[in-house]
Amino acid sequence: MKMFTGNKRSVTVILLIGSCLFILIQCINNGKKESDEKEKNNSTSQIRNINFKQFAGEAACLTCHKNIYDSFVHTSHFLTSQPAIEKYIKGSFEKGKNIFSFHPGLYVEMEKTDSGFFQTAYSNGVEKISKRFDIITGSGAKGQTYLSWRNNELFQLPISYLTSANEWANSPGYPKKIVYNRPVTSRCLECHSTYVTVLSAPGKEPEEYDHNEILYGVECEKCHGPGANHVTYEMQHPKDLVGKYIINPATFTRQQSLDLCALCHGGRLQKTTPSFEFIAGDTLANYFVKDNSGPTISEIDVHGNQYGLLQESKCFQMSGMTCLTCHNTHEYERGKEALFSQRCMACHNKEHGTFCKINSLSVASIKSNCIDCHMPKQPSMSVALLLQGHDEPTPALIHTHLIKVYQDATKKFIKTKK
Ligand code: HEC
Ligand code: HEC
Ligand code: HEC
Ligand code: HEC
Ligand code: HEC
Ligand code: HEC
Ligand code: HEC
Repeated sequence: MKMFTGNKRSVTVILLIGSCLFILIQCINNGKKESDEKEKNNSTSQIRNINFKQFAGEAACLTCHKNIYDSFVHTSHFLTSQPAIEKYIKGSFEKGKNIFSFHPGLYVEMEKTDSGFFQTAYSNGVEKISKRFDIITGSGAKGQTYLSWRNNELFQLPISYLTSANEWANSPGYPKKIVYNRPVTSRCLECHSTYVTVLSAPGKEPEEYDHNEILYGVECEKCHGPGANHVTYEMQHPKDLVGKYIINPATFTRQQSLDLCALCHGGRLQKTTPSFEFIAGDTLANYFVKDNSGPTISEIDVHGNQYGLLQESKCFQMSGMTCLTCHNTHEYERGKEALFSQRCMACHNKEHGTFCKINSLSVASIKSNCIDCHMPKQPSMSVALLLQGHDEPTPALIHTHLIKVYQDATKKFIKTKK
């Protein structure tokens, strides 16, 4: 059937023509393979052959770092990927709410059965294809996308979930038809998990992964480096109070610290070494090149490129700030505007004469929320999902990191205060 694009079609062609899930991903993976290979050879010195056995898994950190562990498990990083179990799938399997229909003759039903959860496509009442939810990506703060195994290959399922609408939706960037054959790249997994063993040789598409060697979530060892040696050492030397064989980002230079976050929050990057080779403390430029076909500042998407946007802000250019100036990555702090505003006031305060210049509001209401006026939410260009019955995709709203004066956002804010 034409509707269900067959597997045989060249993956490259699909990747090139289909606007991929998020624009940034597309560019990372489509890169001309030849130049990719060359880059790889040039930078072999960077390849350290990171492997699964070097990791302990976040559960191993619990015994000795309980406080950090207990707060960290609530963060979006921790929750950004996991096996597809019911309590983490945000969409509904209830009759009446479990269908995404392209038109009456063509729909996908989200089905709950004894052997798991499935997305089953029907054309004119006839079942065409049914694939299992195996892995969830996305904490659900904005949405979720689901992945399905076929042997050792992973494919994205056609229907995703958009949190703001609390509805199933066509996966981002998908055409208005049912697509089951979009392969999941190691770069996608590199941003949404801690480590996955890639089985296939470089350049093979779709790539193949080891089902049993996946560390779900962006967890401790993504920011602290593989920790198996640390755990073994600390267990054997309980009296040694200095942590060994583990990386502490507090010791990083500004660029090292920014590079760690930019691995995943740096927008379009084209890899020059295999995925998962970068570890905390490394120089990003040794693993990726900036994709020069990328957008200009006015086009940078608010999704996935906080680094690019922040770099264009005066705050960033005229201070030594990093992401950690405002973010404590061990804590769930989403929506805490007053807390973030406190962090702005570490630099912008009356004593330094750098406090907010607006005079139409009380100091108290200014202090309570710098964010909605100077980092307002904007629609994402790439996290936009087609809801049933709509003509255009509905974008997720994401705080911009281009910090400046926004007159429209200010008007909106003042209105809500009156
Ligand atoms: C058997 C106990 C134990 C386990 C398990 C353990 N650690 Fe540690 N860790 C320590 C001790 C002791 C220190 C040194 C005191 C401190 O900084 O808290 C430490 C320090 C650290 C530091 C700071 C290092 C520095 O240079 O300041 C980090 C980061 C860290 N651990 C991360 C982890 C991670 C990630 C895991 C899980 C993979 C883990 N630890 C598992 C005992 C442990
Ligand atoms: C391995 C990739 C990766 C790295 C490294 C990474 N992040 Fe993230 N980060 C993500 C992903 C993916 C999400 C989206 C999680 C979700 O909602 O599913 C995210 C979400 C966030 C959020 C939003 C949290 C929320 O609850 O809204 C913040 C803030 C953030 N990251 C900051 C950082 C900072 C600061 C660093 C560097 C210290 C960093 N990240 C490093 C991948 C990464
Ligand atoms: C997104 C990145 C990120 C993740 C994930 C992460 N950390 Fe950290 N961690 C940091 C940064 C950055 C610092 C240094 C903070 C600072 O500048 O003081 C740090 C510091 C630490 C320290 C030493 C300082 C302290 O607060 O005691 C320990 C121990 C630690 N982390 C353990 C963990 C454990 C255990 C986990 C998982 C449960 C974890 N971290 C997850 C980024 C991360
Ligand atoms: C370059 C890193 C990167 C790549 C590659 C990437 N993502 Fe993301 N993704 C992010 C970040 C960062 C966020 C957090 C939102 C933001 O930054 O605006 C995110 C957000 C998401 C969300 C919404 C999560 C939420 O609820 O907030 C989903 C779902 C998602 N990604 C799925 C995928 C899938 C599936 C792939 C691969 C096919 C992929 N992403 C590739 C970095 C990446
Ligand atoms: C590490 C210090 C630091 C922090 C933290 C900081 N800023 Fe700034 N910011 C600066 C500096 C330095 C400038 C440039 C000089 C100036 O205008 O005061 C600046 C400029 C600005 C400007 C003017 C931008 C322009 O284009 O003219 C705004 C608005 C602003 N900051 C808002 C914020 C907000 C809101 C926060 C918190 C979310 C924040 N800043 C956090 C240091 C900081
Ligand atoms: C000047 C302060 C400041 C700095 C520096 C900063 N952020 Fe943020 N960030 C914020 C605020 C404020 C929010 C909105 C938090 C909320 O209300 O949930 C935010 C939200 C986010 C989100 C979630 C976006 C959304 O709307 O869902 C991500 C992801 C993120 N930051 C990543 C980063 C990364 C990566 C860096 C470094 C490149 C960084 N931030 C630097 C203040 C900052
Ligand atoms: C109601 C929206 C609103 C809130 C809330 C707000 N600001 Fe502003 N801010 C503005 C506007 C509008 C201007 C420009 C005023 C002018 O130049 O007439 C401004 C100006 C500034 C400037 C100077 C920019 C320049 O051009 O030099 C800084 C710095 C700043 N704000 C920081 C903050 C911080 C920090 C907070 C929170 C403590 C905050 N603002 C809260 C709307 C707001």
